[in-house]
Amino acid sequence: MKDSKRITEKSGTLAREFNERVITLNPLELDHHRIYVGRKEEESVSNYYKVLRTQLIQTMDKTSQRKILVTSALAGEGKSATALNLAIAFAQNINQLVILVEANLRRPFLQRVLSLGKDCAGLTDYLLDEISIETLLLNPEVGELRILPAGSSIPNAAELIGSNRMKMLLTELEQKYKDSYILIDAPPVLTHPDTLILSELADAVLMVVAEGATPSQKIREAEEKLKGQKQIFYVMNKCWVP
Ligand SMILES: Nc1ncnc2c1ncn2[C@@H]1O[C@H](COP(=O)(O)OP(=O)(O)OP(=O)(O)O)[C@@H](O)[C@H]1O
Ligand SMILES: [Mg+2]
Repeated sequence: MKDSKRITEKSGTLAREFNERVITLNPLELDHHRIYVGRKEEESVSNYYKVLRTQLIQTMDKTSQRKILVTSALAGEGKSATALNLAIAFAQNINQLVILVEANLRRPFLQRVLSLGKDCAGLTDYLLDEISIETLLLNPEVGELRILPAGSSIPNAAELIGSNRMKMLLTELEQKYKDSYILIDAPPVLTHPDTLILSELADAVLMVVAEGATPSQKIREAEEKLKGQKQIFYVMNKCWVP
């Protein structure tokens, strides 16, 4: 990670000066973890995420809703890869702030992909130690993308996502970074009951489904649990593409 640096953003959502934690993306790690958006050699896969982004923007702009919870029925279906690819696709398209919140505290993903140190502060530090959000956001220098990683590892971290403080985080992000898109990389619906609490705070849910792997019964069960959500979108992942 580079030293934090003081920058002044131009006009727009980040129209103020603050210390940012700037990180450098490592192409080898991105490749290893299937983060393709923004890489010329992976244009065809990248385009699928761009289409998904455009569909979400078109649908959500109609209702001014901006908080998208990325989840799945079960573990390992590709939520984190989808969330990060999509976040980059959002950041590349629009001159608008996009914030990716890593809320799957039991199985954090970004520490490895972004080569963050083990003690890299993030969401848990906000939730427990009330560290200010401005000092926790990472800037990977991809458009206006900002990332809130899972943060310091603590016992029973997963239970924090259903807390009032988590609710405060989303309210604070919305108030401080008006008109930004907020993508939340959440735990699976069926194995982590607190995901349902989190989903109530989001405006839309993006359900990742691993093609040929997620039993349809499990998708229905997850759908049943999310019933009452304003909008649920589905994305098929791990598909074979000719
Ligand atoms: N489109 C894809 N094609 C092939 N493999 C994929 C794809 N998307 C993700 N994977 C692989 O599947 C595994 C799980 O991906 P990922 O960590 O994104 O899932 P997850 O749903 O976030 O998992 P968890 O429930 O542990 O948080 C990783 O090894 C990842 O590289
Ligand atoms: Mg994950």
